[in-house]
Amino acid sequence: TDRYAVVGNPVAHSQSPFIHAEFARECAQDIRYEKLFAGLGQFAEAARAFFAEGGKGLNVTLPFKGDARRLADELSERARMADAVNTLALLPDGRLYGDNTDGIGLVRDIVDNLDIPISGKSVLVLGAGGAVRGVLGPLLAEGPARVTIANRTLIKAEAIAHHFAAQGKVEAVGYDELAGRHFDIVINGTSTSLSGELPPIPHGLFSARTLAYDMVYSKGLTPFLQRAQAENAGMLADGLGMLVEQAAESFRIWRGVQPPTRTVTNLLREVLA
Ligand code: ATR
Repeated sequence: TDRYAVVGNPVAHSQSPFIHAEFARECAQDIRYEKLFAGLGQFAEAARAFFAEGGKGLNVTLPFKGDARRLADELSERARMADAVNTLALLPDGRLYGDNTDGIGLVRDIVDNLDIPISGKSVLVLGAGGAVRGVLGPLLAEGPARVTIANRTLIKAEAIAHHFAAQGKVEAVGYDELAGRHFDIVINGTSTSLSGELPPIPHGLFSARTLAYDMVYSKGLTPFLQRAQAENAGMLADGLGMLVEQAAESFRIWRGVQPPTRTVTNLLREVLA
């Protein structure tokens, strides 16, 4: 039985053990997946101990994704660009490989599960923190017409746009510049949904051809999705599908098997209801 875990602080509410247990069952993989709490400043110590005791891979959640990037001996290009690691895998030679599966998780949820191509579309991303930096590379790799990043603190959006400029058409704007503009896909990557807030988007941002996507998942509609619904957005989605898809990519990296995701997502939706 190979051992895996998710490290975080807090970690108690993580759905990852449930998700990976389901993947393992569906793919007949003999693994154990647990939760690992690490004190602030104790990530490297906790991770090293886990691997020293025979652990094969770790998922890393807040606030340790930067620490995990520093711990990794080798990085995927997308983890390097994201400047964050959410998946560590023990290599045969004992070194640690660091990857970031958040962006591909978002893209697969939109393109495969929701069946909405990103290629050629105009995409608006709200927020310019770690969550947004983590997904921009895979988003741009889909070939959207343009990605617009809106943030309260404009300079942070500008820094991200500059960082990813070579990978596609990216622009940075303030919320006040969104008035009168329309996008095919609007993704909320701010932390507002966690505190029940709404980012300061103008009225009339959504239309029947807009996908409104909140990277946060929740039981009911987040304030962002409520606004989108009130403005008759064509489709609403929260981040549950992304959560399961990023886990699936981690599972594939570790086990070399691509797990099916639909059953797990439906089960989780029931658990959360
Ligand atoms: P994360 O790693 O989850 O992205 P973060 O780095 O703290 O967390 O970033 C939080 C994001 O949510 C930022 O883009 C933040 O905007 P600022 O950069 O201007 O702070 C955004 N955010 C948080 N609360 C917000 C609010 N009430 N309105 C608009 N944006 C908000």
